[in-house]
Amino acid sequence: MANKLFIPGPTEVRKEILDELARPQIGHRTEGFKKLFGSLKPGLREVFYTQNDILISTSSGSGFWESSIRCCVNKKILVAVNGAFSKKYADVAEACGREVVRIKYEDGQAVKPEEVEEALSKDGFEAFAMAHNETSTGVCSRMEPIANVMKKYPNVLWFVDAVSSLGGIKLEVDKLGIDFCFTSSQKAFALPPGIAMASISPRSYEKAMNVPGKGYYFNILDLKKEYDSDQTPYTPSIPHLYALQKQLERIKVEGIENRFRRHQEMAEYTRAWVKKVGLVMFSEEGYHSNTVSCISNIKAIDFKAVKKELSAKGFSIDSGYGKMNEKLEASGKPNTFRIAHMGDLTLEEIKELTSELERFIS
Ligand SMILES: Cc1ncc(COP(=O)(O)O)c(C=O)c1O
Repeated sequence: MANKLFIPGPTEVRKEILDELARPQIGHRTEGFKKLFGSLKPGLREVFYTQNDILISTSSGSGFWESSIRCCVNKKILVAVNGAFSKKYADVAEACGREVVRIKYEDGQAVKPEEVEEALSKDGFEAFAMAHNETSTGVCSRMEPIANVMKKYPNVLWFVDAVSSLGGIKLEVDKLGIDFCFTSSQKAFALPPGIAMASISPRSYEKAMNVPGKGYYFNILDLKKEYDSDQTPYTPSIPHLYALQKQLERIKVEGIENRFRRHQEMAEYTRAWVKKVGLVMFSEEGYHSNTVSCISNIKAIDFKAVKKELSAKGFSIDSGYGKMNEKLEASGKPNTFRIAHMGDLTLEEIKELTSELERFIS
């Protein structure tokens, strides 16, 4: 039996979803495919809270880091860096040859509107990029105050990496005015890794028309052209699309608001448990994530040993993000570990995990 995954991606995938991956294949230039692809649109729009197109790429979420930059930025982008993944977003922009200005936060801190406003007021940027939920530190930034700042800069596109939040934490794309918002299948959607989904605003398409060198695979204008007739420019992962269709049905049955509530309950339970066993959260107070808890290992628990023992009992959990832990240890601070309560996991399953974990902590 495989271990149950309490790691922040890939998350646990239920049997009914796995079964969808084993369906007989169909050609991707058939009516059957068009029906499948078209059936995904309404459900995705509900989860993203948008009327925008939601493009699907056969890649992991990183593909849309590159896509947002190569398609919608000619020269200069502002990126908020508050952990390992937002740092990577900035690094990708640089790797694509763009000029990058970083707003730097300490690990564990959330992105705040004040710094975004200050940076935008000083310089001319084409876009501002950030991670909604920093998976490395378990920090979820508040989006409304940042949206209020973005509204003052109508020529700046807003890119939001919602890889570890979308589908688990409410993120209202249209209400907030997010231009490019993307997620990966293997996080709160609780599908196997392999596809990524991105909501694209009309302004993003307009901008893309004026950006040369968009490349091939992640060109949103090519994806859009095919999307409009329920097609993809190249062969997609059809098994993943069946799995996504099933998952959207399951989300409808659960109710999207109930799904968010379940994540909140699992997160609140975990945070209370952290307090009960005498540990502390690493993430800034008031910005704890509802999909992943990052915990300061102030009791210097030998996590390698714990992980091994838990694994023998069928639970997989994650240490803190590698490089960040190394940095913390080098400066004499406690390292971290993470419990993901993401996707289709239930409160009961989180309780089973924490009661096993507790034996090592007390
Ligand atoms: C916040 C965030 N952004 C981006 C990524 C990269 O996504 P992927 O691994 O799907 O390419 C991750 C992966 O964990 C992530 O947590």
